[in-house]
Amino acid sequence: MPNLFRLKKKINSFNKTITVSGDKSISIRWVLFSSLADGISSAQNLLLSDDVLTAINAIKKLGIKVRLNKKRCTIYGKGINGYCFKKNTIIDARNSGTLGRLIMGLLIDTNHPIKLIGDKSLSKRDFKRISDPLSKFGATFKLSNKKNLPLKIIGSSNLKPFKYFEKRGSAQCKSSVIFGGMKTEGTTIIKAKKSRNHTEILCKYLKLPVSCKKMQDYDIIKVNKVKKIKALNYKIPSDISSSAFFIVLTALSENSKLTIKNVSINPSRIGIIKILKKMGVKISFRNKKIYKGEKIADIFIKSSKKLKPINCPSKFNSQAIDEFLLIFLVAAKANGISTFKDLDELNQKESPRLKWSSKILNMMGVKNISTKNSIKIFGNPNLSLNKTITIKNYLKDHRIFMTSVIAALSFGGTWKIFDKDSIQSSFPSFLKIVKDLNKND
Ligand code: S3P
Repeated sequence: MPNLFRLKKKINSFNKTITVSGDKSISIRWVLFSSLADGISSAQNLLLSDDVLTAINAIKKLGIKVRLNKKRCTIYGKGINGYCFKKNTIIDARNSGTLGRLIMGLLIDTNHPIKLIGDKSLSKRDFKRISDPLSKFGATFKLSNKKNLPLKIIGSSNLKPFKYFEKRGSAQCKSSVIFGGMKTEGTTIIKAKKSRNHTEILCKYLKLPVSCKKMQDYDIIKVNKVKKIKALNYKIPSDISSSAFFIVLTALSENSKLTIKNVSINPSRIGIIKILKKMGVKISFRNKKIYKGEKIADIFIKSSKKLKPINCPSKFNSQAIDEFLLIFLVAAKANGISTFKDLDELNQKESPRLKWSSKILNMMGVKNISTKNSIKIFGNPNLSLNKTITIKNYLKDHRIFMTSVIAALSFGGTWKIFDKDSIQSSFPSFLKIVKDLNKND
């Protein structure tokens, strides 16, 4: 079975420096902004994963020329109103919620209806959370089962701004409305619960008429119609969500040290660092710098002899939303009971990740109590496995696959993990890095 990955040994101690691939959120946003720019944009270190290639295919379908090789991606933008496509065009967002949701905001003014489809996992996810606010601009959306893909977008030439309250802490919801506002005359006002802010940072760097006022728990974003976007050359930093697998592997391994180079440490993404530090993991940032408004650093981690349990404050949830599966592994080895709450959004991902976390912890023999939005994990500092565990996530969730590999390398036992190819979504070089860390040199 080529898509099955087997592991039956803990990782040996390591002391290494690695580089993980480019940030997925920034890569997809760079593709979308460049598709709207006047002129030629170019990126280095763009993440060449399925989700990003899917974004590139989407803008190609909208009439934008793209040149891509391993070193560089070049996008020939035709301006903010430059999309041009045939009737009955279908955009396939495949597994990418970010692409599917963000691009909807850019299609609210198109003259032909356009269809949006996705794979089995994306077709189960909620798109009403995007069509509801975007329809307030005046566009029409026809969804399957009132909330899912496939959906049809019928644009409007008479868009009106509105006031939107984003309560979930979802950057995808917020960004789709920012994009819609960029296409709309007048001022769109968004009150948004804190979430990743790469879209706002790019707007600021590009000097677009978008302002952001930071409040304690919310941001107030004002978006005006954009006339022109200048071409954007970008060197994409490494992805903290991909780094997270190796941060946790180091924290859980014996006598190990790891440096991860040039990672985006945007404050809206470093929930995992804050949570793990509270749990006693030694992590530091080195060589900090700012690149086009984004904070970047090398991350240095040491393995931890003593891990403390945590009563995790919900204010970290959005900042660590893609990393909770991994954080739960650390809680499984902590000296006491950890609790995590208000995690409704975790079941809204590529697969219901809170349910899957509880399932995997049960298979590992780690006592846990979960509800629809919380989990209590009874940690065991001596956790070491000596049994066979088979993981087959029928929605082929990339983060479930990779987290299972980290659990196998950290706790031992015999693991049979299905759907190895799922790593293509976000982190195609994941297994190569695992192999390099496992080499004794
Ligand atoms: C993303 C936002 C998050 C995250 C996803 C990427 C983005 O989703 O889970 O992997 O790039 O905007 P939500 O905004 O729905 O929480």
